[in-house]
Amino acid sequence: MIHEESDNIPEVLREKSSLDEESSVTLRPGRLDEYIGQNAIVETLKIAIEAALQRKEPLDHILFNGPPGLGKTTLAHIIANEMGTRIITSSGPALEKGGDLMGILTHMEKGDVFFIDEIHRIPKIVEEFLYPAMEDFAVDFIFDKGVHARTHRYRLEPFTLIGATTRAGLLSSPLRERFGITRDLDFYDEKDLVRIVERSAAILGIAVDREGAFEIARRARGTPRVANRLLKRVRDYAQVRAKGKITRDVAVGALALERIDEYGLGEMDRKLLKTVILNYKGGPVGIEALASTLQIETDVLLDVVEPFLLKSGFIIRTSHGRKATEKAYSHLDMPHRGEPGLFESARGKKRS
Ligand SMILES: Nc1ncnc2c1ncn2[C@@H]1O[C@H](COP(=O)(O)OP(=O)(O)OP(=O)(O)O)[C@@H](O)[C@H]1O
Ligand SMILES: [Mg+2]
Repeated sequence: MIHEESDNIPEVLREKSSLDEESSVTLRPGRLDEYIGQNAIVETLKIAIEAALQRKEPLDHILFNGPPGLGKTTLAHIIANEMGTRIITSSGPALEKGGDLMGILTHMEKGDVFFIDEIHRIPKIVEEFLYPAMEDFAVDFIFDKGVHARTHRYRLEPFTLIGATTRAGLLSSPLRERFGITRDLDFYDEKDLVRIVERSAAILGIAVDREGAFEIARRARGTPRVANRLLKRVRDYAQVRAKGKITRDVAVGALALERIDEYGLGEMDRKLLKTVILNYKGGPVGIEALASTLQIETDVLLDVVEPFLLKSGFIIRTSHGRKATEKAYSHLDMPHRGEPGLFESARGKKRS
């Protein structure tokens, strides 16, 4: 799903595959108290963790759902940290065969956190092994086939499964129901993003004033990963052009160079909006058609590009597909269909 060469790769994904992610490990909050925003989720987790620690039991299985870069992986690591346990990580596509999963499960120690990223991409047959593992802490080995098939139940140490997904809707309901706690992560508001930018700047030793942090925060698509990425780009610019300090003007100049507008939209977002408006008369347009016109994968469109455009009101989802909103037309400075456009009104004037 991650192609590094293409220009079409949206911000959030590009970051994930680059070296930046490695250095951002240090930017990752390690404790719940350092975790900024998502207050209701943090509160739920604090209570669940404290209760589990008191009972000396593993935590319930947890499912985090939400767009990329909002902190699902971070939360999984924090939970293991707070519980004082190990974390074993894998991902849906990596668990190709039942045996892959078995190998991990049977080596789990009591209380371990097993984190599965992109859990919606687990193959169906592998998923079925997870049911008894989650419910009864057991796996069923099957020997032979057909009428001779015998199963042997193998007991597992109690563990906590943490699943992360960008699309909980794709999870089968038996799997979804086996999570004790399910939480949707939402985009961060500007206030929280300012705090995240300031925290990251402090860790990286970057001088940034409040307005500078605000300019970065409001263009970060409600996403901590994007905020951190923009901060690094602005830092480079500040270093070369502005004696190192990030102020409002420095941030504006640097982000203009990155072609990120004041709403945080990048080239891909604007291209999408223009396509809906120009090629599809403002919509509705089906997601498949849109993806193929834009030449990006439908999944990327659905998981990465679209959520923020929906959230910030540039497009809406109807039963017939996506439509551009008034806000999209005015942001791109395009005459709204239905209303007299520039051309029509000019003609109208001539006639009268
Ligand atoms: N609440 C937060 N406070 C501070 N920094 C955060 C917070 N949440 C996330 N971050 C930062 O954003 C980066 C991305 O977070 P993370 O990798 O957890 O996202 P994710 O939801 O797992 O994304 P993906 O779905 O792409 O795997 C982290 O490296 C971390 O530095
Ligand atoms: Mg992640």
